[in-house]
Amino acid sequence: MVILKLPDEIEKLRTSNRIVAEILQALREKVKPGVTTRELNRLSEDLSQKRRVKPAFKGYRGYPFALCTSINGEVVHGMPSDQPLVAGDILSLDFGVIYKGYCGDAAITVPVGTVAAEAERLMQVTEASLYAGIDQARAGNRLGDISAAVQECVETAGFSVVRDYVGHGIGRNMHEDPQIPNYGVRGRGLQLKDGMVLAIEPMVNEGSYHVRVQPDGWTVVTEDGKRSAHFEHSVAITENGPDILSRIQ
Ligand code: MF3
Ligand code: CO
Repeated sequence: MVILKLPDEIEKLRTSNRIVAEILQALREKVKPGVTTRELNRLSEDLSQKRRVKPAFKGYRGYPFALCTSINGEVVHGMPSDQPLVAGDILSLDFGVIYKGYCGDAAITVPVGTVAAEAERLMQVTEASLYAGIDQARAGNRLGDISAAVQECVETAGFSVVRDYVGHGIGRNMHEDPQIPNYGVRGRGLQLKDGMVLAIEPMVNEGSYHVRVQPDGWTVVTEDGKRSAHFEHSVAITENGPDILSRIQ
């Protein structure tokens, strides 16, 4: 069941998502060779405490950290560790908070030092595919319009869209209906309405779209070991078009 949000609920979601964006921005500034993802996780927890918000991921289905950190061939749900980042890595930072009972959720992928041209292109295309999807988040369009726009952007660039994980509605719960695949057919699926708030999150692989989960039960990796990138925004559908709640100000 898709839960439509009233304007005052969208304002709470705007606050939670703005805090997520600000914390992601602070984390991004700390990323460099030698830093560990455990240190970034710690910073995300400290900044959440300072802002009086609850990290949304910690304890979610037993996930033990505030932050997801996915490096290179890790797609999503990578866990912070004491392994230092190395120049040339690409790092996905996925973070969420709960403010006044409303969830924020967003992700970025950032370079560690200087990265290969192909890694840079993967990140750029993934972010562009997110914006192509967001541009379709308009009342009267259908879910398939978002999905197809993401897919077309990715596949035109020669990359592939992960099938096994999807975006989602967001509100009082981090994961609400509808599920939002990053591949699909224009004109198909649920009709979009004002008041829907959607977390759109393309996960894009350099090689094949096949992924598997590591024995830790969380870390999703590419089957071929090639790189993957991930960007996510929470977006409200309004009479003025898509409103990106987690935009970095
Ligand atoms: N941002 C992720 C998502 O959109 C949530 C991470 S899963 C968690 O699905 F378990 F770590 F919270
Ligand atoms: Co999400």
